[in-house]
Amino acid sequence: MADPDSARLARLRRSHPTLADLERSARRRIPRFAYDFIQGGAGDDSGAARNRRALADVQLVPRYGVEVGKVDTSVTLFGRRYAAPVGIGPVGMDGLMWPGATRLLAEAAQRHGLPYLCGTLATETIETVCALAPDVTWFQLYPMPAEDHRLSLDLAWRAWNAGAHVLAATLDVPVRTKRPRDLRNGFTMPFRLRPRFAAQAAMAWPWMMALAKAGVPTFANIERYSGTEDPAAFVGRNVGGGFSWEALARLRDAWPRAMMVKGVLHPADAERAVRLGIDGILVSNHGGRQFDAAPAAADVLPAIAAAVGDRATVMLDSGIASGVDVLRAMALGAQGALSGRAFLLAMAGIGDLGARHMAAALMEELETACAQCGLTSPEDAPSLARRHPGAWTAQEFGPAPATDTQTEAAE
Ligand SMILES: Cc1cc2nc3c(=O)[nH]c(=O)nc-3n(C[C@H](O)[C@H](O)[C@H](O)COP(=O)(O)O)c2cc1C
Repeated sequence: MADPDSARLARLRRSHPTLADLERSARRRIPRFAYDFIQGGAGDDSGAARNRRALADVQLVPRYGVEVGKVDTSVTLFGRRYAAPVGIGPVGMDGLMWPGATRLLAEAAQRHGLPYLCGTLATETIETVCALAPDVTWFQLYPMPAEDHRLSLDLAWRAWNAGAHVLAATLDVPVRTKRPRDLRNGFTMPFRLRPRFAAQAAMAWPWMMALAKAGVPTFANIERYSGTEDPAAFVGRNVGGGFSWEALARLRDAWPRAMMVKGVLHPADAERAVRLGIDGILVSNHGGRQFDAAPAAADVLPAIAAAVGDRATVMLDSGIASGVDVLRAMALGAQGALSGRAFLLAMAGIGDLGARHMAAALMEELETACAQCGLTSPEDAPSLARRHPGAWTAQEFGPAPATDTQTEAAE
Protein backbone atom coordinates (compact mmCIF):
# COMPACT_ATOMS: atom_id res chain seq x y z
CA MET A 1 0.00 0.00 0.00
CA ALA A 2 1.31 3.45 -0.88
CA ASP A 3 2.53 5.45 2.11
CA PRO A 4 0.35 8.59 2.37
CA ASP A 5 3.22 10.38 4.12
CA SER A 6 5.94 9.61 1.58
CA ALA A 7 5.82 13.03 -0.14
CA ARG A 8 6.03 14.86 3.19
CA LEU A 9 8.87 12.64 4.36
CA ALA A 10 10.75 13.32 1.13
CA ARG A 11 10.34 17.07 1.71
CA LEU A 12 11.55 16.72 5.31
CA ARG A 13 14.61 14.85 4.07
CA ARG A 14 15.52 17.96 2.06
CA SER A 15 14.52 20.58 4.65
CA HIS A 16 16.01 18.85 7.73
CA PRO A 17 18.99 16.78 6.59
CA THR A 18 20.90 17.01 9.90
CA LEU A 19 20.23 16.98 13.63
CA ALA A 20 21.31 20.63 13.75
CA ASP A 21 18.39 21.52 11.41
CA LEU A 22 15.99 19.71 13.73
CA GLU A 23 17.44 21.44 16.79
CA ARG A 24 16.87 24.85 15.21
CA SER A 25 13.22 24.05 14.43
CA ALA A 26 12.64 22.41 17.82
CA ARG A 27 13.79 25.51 19.66
CA ARG A 28 11.06 27.54 17.95
CA ARG A 29 8.24 25.00 18.16
CA ILE A 30 8.18 23.73 21.74
CA PRO A 31 8.11 25.58 25.08
CA ARG A 32 11.40 26.70 26.52
CA PHE A 33 11.19 24.44 29.60
CA ALA A 34 10.68 21.41 27.33
CA TYR A 35 13.53 22.29 24.96
CA ASP A 36 15.89 22.85 27.88
CA PHE A 37 14.82 19.58 29.49
CA ILE A 38 15.76 17.70 26.31
CA GLN A 39 19.06 19.41 25.72
CA GLY A 40 20.19 20.09 29.26
CA GLY A 41 22.92 18.21 31.04
CA ALA A 42 24.29 17.98 34.54
CA GLY A 43 26.47 20.70 36.00
CA ASP A 44 28.03 22.92 33.39
CA ASP A 45 26.30 21.10 30.51
CA SER A 46 29.62 19.90 29.09
CA GLY A 47 28.78 16.17 29.12
CA ALA A 48 26.45 16.17 26.12
CA ALA A 49 28.87 18.25 24.06
CA ARG A 50 31.73 15.92 25.03
CA ASN A 51 29.72 12.91 23.82
CA ARG A 52 29.14 14.46 20.42
CA ARG A 53 32.71 15.67 20.07
CA ALA A 54 34.12 12.28 21.02
CA LEU A 55 32.15 10.57 18.26
CA ALA A 56 32.85 13.32 15.72
CA ASP A 57 36.58 12.93 16.41
CA VAL A 58 36.55 9.24 15.44
CA GLN A 59 37.92 8.96 11.92
CA LEU A 60 37.29 5.91 9.75
CA VAL A 61 39.33 5.19 6.65
CA PRO A 62 37.20 4.04 3.69
CA ARG A 63 38.43 1.31 1.36
CA TYR A 64 37.66 1.68 -2.34
CA GLY A 65 37.48 -0.55 -5.37
CA VAL A 66 35.23 -2.97 -3.51
CA GLU A 67 32.10 -4.25 -5.25
CA VAL A 68 29.71 -3.52 -2.39
CA GLY A 69 26.46 -4.21 -4.25
CA LYS A 70 23.64 -4.09 -1.74
CA VAL A 71 24.40 -3.15 1.85
CA ASP A 72 22.51 -5.23 4.40
CA THR A 73 22.20 -3.20 7.60
CA SER A 74 20.19 -5.84 9.48
CA VAL A 75 21.64 -7.35 12.65
CA THR A 76 20.71 -9.84 15.34
CA LEU A 77 20.47 -8.42 18.85
CA PHE A 78 19.53 -10.69 21.75
CA GLY A 79 18.35 -13.39 19.36
CA ARG A 80 16.03 -11.23 17.24
CA ARG A 81 16.60 -9.69 13.85
CA TYR A 82 16.36 -5.88 13.49
CA ALA A 83 16.58 -3.80 10.31
CA ALA A 84 19.61 -1.87 11.58
CA PRO A 85 21.85 -1.74 14.65
CA VAL A 86 20.27 1.46 15.94
CA GLY A 87 17.27 1.96 18.15
CA ILE A 88 15.39 4.47 20.25
CA GLY A 89 16.55 5.04 23.83
CA PRO A 90 14.24 5.58 26.82
CA VAL A 91 13.17 9.13 27.53
CA GLY A 92 11.08 9.87 30.58
CA MET A 93 8.23 12.36 30.26
CA ASP A 94 8.65 12.26 26.48
CA GLY A 95 5.03 13.32 26.08
CA LEU A 96 5.85 16.67 27.65
CA MET A 97 8.54 17.27 25.03
CA TRP A 98 6.24 16.33 22.18
CA PRO A 99 2.66 15.30 23.10
CA GLY A 100 1.94 11.76 21.91
CA ALA A 101 5.66 10.95 21.74
CA THR A 102 5.63 7.44 23.23
CA ARG A 103 3.03 6.22 20.77
CA LEU A 104 4.83 7.86 17.83
CA LEU A 105 8.17 6.34 18.85
CA ALA A 106 6.65 2.88 19.20
CA GLU A 107 4.94 3.10 15.81
CA ALA A 108 8.07 4.36 14.06
CA ALA A 109 10.19 1.61 15.61
CA GLN A 110 7.75 -1.11 14.60
CA ARG A 111 7.42 0.24 11.05
CA HIS A 112 11.19 0.45 10.54
CA GLY A 113 12.10 -2.71 12.47
CA LEU A 114 14.32 -0.89 14.97
CA PRO A 115 14.48 -1.61 18.73
CA TYR A 116 12.52 0.71 21.01
CA LEU A 117 13.64 0.73 24.63
CA CYS A 118 10.49 2.06 26.26
CA GLY A 119 11.06 3.88 29.55
CA THR A 120 9.57 3.34 33.00
CA LEU A 121 8.57 7.01 32.82
CA ALA A 122 7.15 6.89 29.27
CA THR A 123 3.73 8.41 28.75
CA GLU A 124 2.01 5.20 27.57
CA THR A 125 1.96 1.93 29.47
CA ILE A 126 4.31 -0.89 28.54
CA GLU A 127 1.20 -2.91 27.67
CA THR A 128 0.12 -0.29 25.10
CA VAL A 129 3.63 0.01 23.69
CA CYS A 130 4.00 -3.76 23.28
CA ALA A 131 0.65 -3.83 21.46
CA LEU A 132 1.79 -1.04 19.12
CA ALA A 133 5.28 -2.45 18.57
CA PRO A 134 5.17 -6.18 19.34
CA ASP A 135 8.31 -7.07 17.38
CA VAL A 136 10.71 -4.45 18.69
CA THR A 137 9.81 -3.36 22.23
CA TRP A 138 12.35 -3.52 25.05
CA PHE A 139 11.68 -2.15 28.53
CA GLN A 140 13.85 0.16 30.67
CA LEU A 141 13.46 -0.24 34.42
CA TYR A 142 14.24 2.37 37.05
CA PRO A 143 14.52 1.03 40.58
CA MET A 144 11.63 1.45 42.96
CA PRO A 145 13.42 0.17 46.04
CA ALA A 146 10.63 0.46 48.65
CA GLU A 147 9.36 -2.79 50.15
CA ASP A 148 12.25 -4.77 48.80
CA HIS A 149 11.68 -3.71 45.19
CA ARG A 150 8.08 -4.90 45.13
CA LEU A 151 7.06 -2.37 42.46
CA SER A 152 10.24 -2.78 40.37
CA LEU A 153 9.52 -6.50 40.19
CA ASP A 154 5.85 -5.89 39.42
CA LEU A 155 6.79 -3.58 36.53
CA ALA A 156 9.27 -6.12 35.20
CA TRP A 157 6.61 -8.81 35.42
CA ARG A 158 4.18 -6.56 33.49
CA ALA A 159 6.82 -5.95 30.81
CA TRP A 160 7.45 -9.70 30.50
CA ASN A 161 3.73 -10.43 30.35
CA ALA A 162 3.18 -7.74 27.70
CA GLY A 163 5.96 -9.26 25.55
CA ALA A 164 8.95 -6.93 25.97
CA HIS A 165 11.94 -8.75 24.49
CA VAL A 166 14.71 -7.23 26.61
CA LEU A 167 14.81 -5.68 30.08
CA ALA A 168 17.32 -2.87 30.67
CA ALA A 169 18.03 -1.85 34.25
CA THR A 170 19.32 1.71 34.51
CA LEU A 171 22.32 1.87 36.84
CA ASP A 172 23.55 5.41 36.45
CA VAL A 173 21.06 7.47 38.48
CA PRO A 174 22.10 6.68 42.07
CA VAL A 175 21.12 10.25 42.98
CA ARG A 176 19.38 13.15 41.27
CA THR A 177 22.06 15.58 40.21
CA LYS A 178 21.78 19.26 39.45
CA ARG A 179 20.59 20.24 35.98
CA PRO A 180 20.97 24.01 35.95
CA ARG A 181 18.68 24.64 32.98
CA ASP A 182 15.80 22.85 34.71
CA LEU A 183 16.47 24.67 37.98
CA ARG A 184 16.41 28.05 36.24
CA ASN A 185 13.17 27.11 34.50
CA GLY A 186 11.59 25.77 37.69
CA PHE A 187 11.19 22.43 35.90
CA THR A 188 11.96 20.17 38.84
CA MET A 189 10.57 17.05 40.49
CA PRO A 190 7.97 16.79 41.82
CA PHE A 191 6.60 18.61 38.82
CA ARG A 192 4.34 21.59 39.53
CA LEU A 193 2.51 23.60 36.90
CA ARG A 194 3.82 27.16 37.03
CA PRO A 195 2.38 30.25 35.33
CA ARG A 196 5.56 30.72 33.30
CA PHE A 197 5.09 27.26 31.71
CA ALA A 198 1.68 28.34 30.44
CA ALA A 199 3.20 31.52 29.03
CA GLN A 200 5.95 29.54 27.25
CA ALA A 201 3.42 27.01 25.96
CA ALA A 202 1.15 29.74 24.58
CA MET A 203 4.00 30.88 22.35
CA ALA A 204 4.64 27.34 21.09
CA TRP A 205 1.47 26.73 19.10
CA PRO A 206 2.60 23.56 17.23
CA TRP A 207 3.19 22.00 20.66
CA MET A 208 -0.17 23.30 21.94
CA MET A 209 -1.96 21.74 18.96
CA ALA A 210 -0.20 18.43 19.55
CA LEU A 211 -1.23 18.62 23.21
CA ALA A 212 -4.84 19.25 22.24
CA LYS A 213 -4.71 16.12 20.05
CA ALA A 214 -2.77 13.76 22.34
CA GLY A 215 -4.02 14.93 25.74
CA VAL A 216 -2.07 15.78 28.86
CA PRO A 217 0.83 13.33 29.32
CA THR A 218 0.92 11.11 32.40
CA PHE A 219 3.33 8.69 34.06
CA ALA A 220 1.27 5.90 32.53
CA ASN A 221 3.27 2.96 33.93
CA ILE A 222 3.21 4.36 37.44
CA GLU A 223 -0.35 5.61 37.76
CA ARG A 224 -1.73 2.31 38.98
CA TYR A 225 0.68 2.37 41.92
CA SER A 226 0.19 5.95 43.07
CA GLY A 227 -3.36 5.53 44.43
CA THR A 228 -4.73 8.88 45.54
CA GLU A 229 -1.29 10.51 45.56
CA ASP A 230 -0.36 12.84 42.69
CA PRO A 231 1.58 10.55 40.27
CA ALA A 232 4.40 13.10 39.85
CA ALA A 233 4.84 13.32 43.62
CA PHE A 234 4.72 9.52 43.83
CA VAL A 235 7.44 9.24 41.17
CA GLY A 236 9.52 11.84 43.00
CA ARG A 237 9.30 9.82 46.22
CA ASN A 238 9.55 6.26 44.91
CA VAL A 239 11.35 6.02 41.58
CA GLY A 240 15.11 6.25 41.37
CA GLY A 241 18.33 5.50 43.15
CA GLY A 242 20.79 2.92 41.96
CA PHE A 243 20.30 -0.82 41.65
CA SER A 244 22.66 -2.58 44.02
CA TRP A 245 24.46 -5.61 42.57
CA GLU A 246 22.40 -7.72 44.93
CA ALA A 247 19.13 -6.25 43.62
CA LEU A 248 20.38 -6.74 40.06
CA ALA A 249 21.16 -10.38 40.75
CA ARG A 250 17.60 -10.93 41.98
CA LEU A 251 16.18 -9.14 38.96
CA ARG A 252 18.37 -11.30 36.72
CA ASP A 253 16.92 -14.41 38.35
CA ALA A 254 13.36 -13.12 38.04
CA TRP A 255 13.52 -11.98 34.39
CA PRO A 256 13.42 -14.91 31.99
CA ARG A 257 14.47 -13.13 28.78
CA ALA A 258 17.54 -11.13 27.76
CA MET A 259 18.64 -8.48 30.22
CA MET A 260 20.88 -5.43 29.83
CA VAL A 261 22.35 -2.93 32.22
CA LYS A 262 22.22 0.70 31.07
CA GLY A 263 24.79 3.27 32.05
CA VAL A 264 28.07 1.36 32.30
CA LEU A 265 31.31 3.36 32.00
CA HIS A 266 33.90 1.12 33.72
CA PRO A 267 35.13 -2.23 32.34
CA ALA A 268 35.08 -3.69 35.89
CA ASP A 269 31.35 -2.91 36.19
CA ALA A 270 30.75 -4.53 32.80
CA GLU A 271 32.72 -7.56 33.97
CA ARG A 272 30.68 -7.81 37.14
CA ALA A 273 27.42 -7.58 35.20
CA VAL A 274 28.53 -10.32 32.82
CA ARG A 275 29.38 -12.54 35.75
CA LEU A 276 25.83 -12.03 37.05
CA GLY A 277 24.54 -13.45 33.78
CA ILE A 278 23.56 -10.11 32.22
CA ASP A 279 23.31 -10.43 28.43
CA GLY A 280 23.91 -6.83 27.37
CA ILE A 281 26.00 -3.84 28.41
CA LEU A 282 24.75 -0.43 27.33
CA VAL A 283 27.75 1.86 27.52
CA SER A 284 26.24 5.26 28.30
CA ASN A 285 26.66 8.35 30.43
CA HIS A 286 22.94 9.11 30.27
CA GLY A 287 23.56 11.64 27.51
CA GLY A 288 25.65 13.79 29.87
CA ARG A 289 22.63 14.34 32.11
CA GLN A 290 24.00 12.88 35.35
CA PHE A 291 27.68 13.77 35.82
CA ASP A 292 29.54 16.36 33.82
CA ALA A 293 32.96 14.93 34.71
CA ALA A 294 32.12 11.50 33.26
CA PRO A 295 34.01 10.43 30.15
CA ALA A 296 32.25 10.40 26.82
CA ALA A 297 30.59 7.02 26.40
CA ALA A 298 32.33 6.51 23.04
CA ASP A 299 35.73 7.03 24.66
CA VAL A 300 35.34 4.16 27.15
CA LEU A 301 33.57 1.87 24.67
CA PRO A 302 36.67 0.11 23.23
CA ALA A 303 38.01 -0.81 26.68
CA ILE A 304 34.61 -2.15 27.77
CA ALA A 305 34.09 -4.05 24.50
CA ALA A 306 37.53 -5.63 24.90
CA ALA A 307 36.81 -6.61 28.52
CA VAL A 308 33.43 -8.14 27.64
CA GLY A 309 34.52 -9.92 24.45
CA ASP A 310 31.80 -12.16 23.06
CA ARG A 311 30.27 -12.95 26.47
CA ALA A 312 27.60 -10.22 26.12
CA THR A 313 26.19 -7.76 23.59
CA VAL A 314 27.74 -4.31 23.92
CA MET A 315 25.77 -1.29 22.80
CA LEU A 316 26.39 2.46 22.98
CA ASP A 317 24.26 5.51 23.59
CA SER A 318 25.15 9.14 24.36
CA GLY A 319 25.92 11.42 21.46
CA ILE A 320 24.55 9.54 18.44
CA ALA A 321 23.62 12.26 15.94
CA SER A 322 23.74 10.41 12.61
CA GLY A 323 24.03 7.04 10.90
CA VAL A 324 27.74 7.73 10.50
CA ASP A 325 27.96 7.86 14.31
CA VAL A 326 26.33 4.42 14.43
CA LEU A 327 29.06 3.10 12.14
CA ARG A 328 31.67 4.79 14.34
CA ALA A 329 30.20 3.04 17.41
CA MET A 330 30.31 -0.30 15.59
CA ALA A 331 33.93 0.32 14.56
CA LEU A 332 34.77 0.91 18.24
CA GLY A 333 33.32 -2.44 19.25
CA ALA A 334 29.58 -1.94 19.79
CA GLN A 335 27.05 -4.32 18.27
CA GLY A 336 24.46 -1.56 18.17
CA ALA A 337 23.56 1.93 19.33
CA LEU A 338 20.60 3.80 20.77
CA SER A 339 19.68 7.42 20.45
CA GLY A 340 17.66 9.53 22.89
CA ARG A 341 17.71 13.21 22.00
CA ALA A 342 17.79 12.82 18.21
CA PHE A 343 14.33 11.24 18.15
CA LEU A 344 12.86 13.75 20.62
CA LEU A 345 14.33 16.69 18.73
CA ALA A 346 12.98 15.32 15.46
CA MET A 347 9.43 15.24 16.84
CA ALA A 348 9.85 18.62 18.51
CA GLY A 349 11.29 20.06 15.30
CA ILE A 350 8.90 18.71 12.68
CA GLY A 351 5.98 17.13 14.53
CA ASP A 352 4.35 13.73 14.42
CA LEU A 353 6.42 12.47 11.48
CA GLY A 354 9.63 13.27 13.34
CA ALA A 355 10.28 9.80 14.72
CA ARG A 356 9.81 8.24 11.28
CA HIS A 357 12.01 10.89 9.70
CA MET A 358 14.80 10.20 12.22
CA ALA A 359 14.55 6.42 11.84
CA ALA A 360 14.73 6.72 8.04
CA ALA A 361 17.60 9.22 8.20
CA LEU A 362 19.72 7.08 10.56
CA MET A 363 19.17 4.00 8.41
CA GLU A 364 19.91 5.77 5.14
CA GLU A 365 23.04 7.41 6.54
CA LEU A 366 24.28 4.13 7.96
CA GLU A 367 23.70 2.32 4.68
CA THR A 368 25.50 5.02 2.69
CA ALA A 369 28.39 5.14 5.17
CA CYS A 370 28.84 1.36 4.84
CA ALA A 371 28.87 1.58 1.04
CA GLN A 372 31.30 4.51 1.18
CA CYS A 373 33.65 2.45 3.36
CA GLY A 374 33.42 -0.67 1.19
CA LEU A 375 31.36 -2.64 3.72
CA THR A 376 28.35 -4.81 2.89
CA SER A 377 27.34 -4.86 6.56
CA PRO A 378 27.94 -2.53 9.53
CA GLU A 379 29.02 -5.64 11.44
CA ASP A 380 32.26 -5.47 9.43
CA ALA A 381 33.04 -1.98 10.79
CA PRO A 382 35.71 -3.23 13.25
CA SER A 383 37.86 -4.05 10.21
CA LEU A 384 38.12 -0.36 9.27
CA ALA A 385 41.30 1.54 10.00
CA ARG A 386 40.43 4.21 12.52
CA ARG A 387 41.81 6.95 14.71
CA HIS A 388 40.16 7.52 18.09
CA PRO A 389 41.99 10.31 19.88
CA GLY A 390 39.87 10.24 23.08
CA ALA A 391 40.01 6.46 23.65
CA TRP A 392 40.64 5.32 27.22
CA THR A 393 43.03 2.40 27.46
CA ALA A 394 42.38 -0.56 29.76
CA GLN A 395 45.37 0.55 31.87
CA GLU A 396 43.83 3.97 32.53
CA PHE A 397 41.03 2.36 34.52
CA GLY A 398 43.59 0.89 36.88
CA PRO A 399 43.19 -2.44 38.63
CA ALA A 400 39.65 -3.35 39.74
CA PRO A 401 39.13 -1.74 43.17
CA ALA A 402 39.74 -4.19 46.00
CA THR A 403 36.22 -3.44 47.31
CA ASP A 404 34.77 -5.07 44.17
CA THR A 405 36.42 -8.38 44.80
CA GLN A 406 35.81 -8.20 48.54
CA THR A 407 32.07 -7.53 48.27
CA GLU A 408 31.71 -10.06 45.49
CA ALA A 409 33.42 -12.71 47.59
CA ALA A 410 31.09 -11.88 50.48
CA GLU A 411 27.96 -12.27 48.31
C1 LIG B 1 14.69 14.09 27.95
C2 LIG B 1 15.41 12.84 28.32
C3 LIG B 1 14.84 11.97 29.24
C4 LIG B 1 15.51 10.79 29.58
N1 LIG B 1 14.89 9.91 30.43
C5 LIG B 1 15.49 8.71 30.69
C6 LIG B 1 14.82 7.73 31.48
O1 LIG B 1 13.68 7.93 31.91
N2 LIG B 1 15.48 6.56 31.72
C7 LIG B 1 16.75 6.31 31.25
O2 LIG B 1 17.30 5.23 31.50
N3 LIG B 1 17.38 7.21 30.48
C8 LIG B 1 16.78 8.40 30.19
N4 LIG B 1 17.42 9.32 29.39
C9 LIG B 1 18.74 8.99 28.85
C10 LIG B 1 18.61 8.31 27.50
O3 LIG B 1 18.01 7.05 27.60
C11 LIG B 1 19.96 8.12 26.83
O4 LIG B 1 20.84 7.47 27.71
C12 LIG B 1 20.59 9.44 26.37
O5 LIG B 1 19.60 10.33 25.92
C13 LIG B 1 21.56 9.14 25.26
O6 LIG B 1 22.21 10.28 24.82
P1 LIG B 1 21.72 11.11 23.53
O7 LIG B 1 20.55 11.89 23.99
O8 LIG B 1 22.89 11.96 23.21
O9 LIG B 1 21.36 10.12 22.44
C14 LIG B 1 16.77 10.49 29.03
C15 LIG B 1 17.32 11.37 28.10
C16 LIG B 1 16.66 12.53 27.73
C17 LIG B 1 17.27 13.41 26.70
